[in-house]
Amino acid sequence: MDPLVDGWGRRIESVRISVTDKCNFRCTYCMPAEGLEWLRRDEILSFEEITRLARILAALGVGEVRLTGGEPLVRRDVPALVGMLAEIPGIDDLSLTTNGILLRRYAQSLVDAGLRRINVSLDSLDHVRFAEITRRDALDQVLEGLAEAERFPELRPIKVNCVAIKNFTEPEVPALAALARRKPYVVRFIEFMPLDADRAWSADQVLTGAEIRALVEAEHGPLVELPAKASSTAQRYAFADGAGELGFVNPVSEPFCSTCDRIRITADGQLRTCLFSRREWDVKSVLRNGSDDAQIAAFLRHAVRHKELKHRVNEPGFVPASRSMSQIGG
Ligand code: GTP
Ligand code: 5AD
Ligand code: SF4
Repeated sequence: MDPLVDGWGRRIESVRISVTDKCNFRCTYCMPAEGLEWLRRDEILSFEEITRLARILAALGVGEVRLTGGEPLVRRDVPALVGMLAEIPGIDDLSLTTNGILLRRYAQSLVDAGLRRINVSLDSLDHVRFAEITRRDALDQVLEGLAEAERFPELRPIKVNCVAIKNFTEPEVPALAALARRKPYVVRFIEFMPLDADRAWSADQVLTGAEIRALVEAEHGPLVELPAKASSTAQRYAFADGAGELGFVNPVSEPFCSTCDRIRITADGQLRTCLFSRREWDVKSVLRNGSDDAQIAAFLRHAVRHKELKHRVNEPGFVPASRSMSQIGG
């Protein structure tokens, strides 16, 4: 079958599937304190619908599937979904992005179901500051979740995601860099993007990857760049002595749209061809209206042809996406 190619010639090989819009955290850079209005059960794709869609995408060459949320582990039986996806021929990279609070409970069943790598959000190693940014006092549970993940050597790499915010994250950098040296975790700093439900983002709150790198290098000496896949969100770095890896995801200061290979499916079955899309494609209706696989594939191809060239966060008149990160899937 012809590969899935967008209107700018980029091959689409990765899909991020959100399994729920709900979350048990209220990170300030994502959700309002009071939460959002949750989707109804019947609005959310079933595991069977997700699996069918993933099978059709895999046949079009989309070999990477990442499960996201909200917080994916708040949806019941996510390990069962992992098991269903792990069986699909052509899916060779199945991963999950989680806030980690339920990881201690689910790591074993996720690994048993076929999960092979995991990304865990962790914005601070200080209890008070962790609670300040996530609005939940759950640092110990997240660290326990990471420790549990570490018990499974088949679950690698383990990546830790820290959203970097100016005048907040700077003091966290030494401890997070030390974590990368001490533990088998790739620690990644992510530039704050205008996807918070509170619409409080401003450009001066972005702590850039270059600024963090300078903070790390002041302490540890020069970092050494490692090769990364062309479509990688992250630039990868090793410490000069080789122990430990850091990553920098710099969507604001160094956009990586030109090598983007991603599409997204929201929990309510809308295809988004960009994190910042203003338009969504209603895949759920196509899944539910009796279309056969070929018709669904044609719909996907059509949508992908309209994929945005790039985000316009740095341009005057930028209009934020219509939904927040937790509703899109990160
Ligand atoms: P790996 O394959 O493990 O490198 O994962 P990833 O970095 O693609 O996924 P993860 O869920 O860990 O996301 C890390 C950060 O990258 C999050 O803030 C995502 O929102 C962001 N991100 C992922 N894909 C895109 C994208 O296409 N565009 C932008 N601007 N940000 C993205
Ligand atoms: N900017 C950058 N990253 C964000 N994330 C959530 N909201 C934002 C934002 N506004 C991150 C989470 C998680 C990943 C899916 O997206 O911390 O690691
Ligand atoms: Fe929940 Fe993730 Fe949003 Fe935090 S960033 S509120 S953990 S969905």
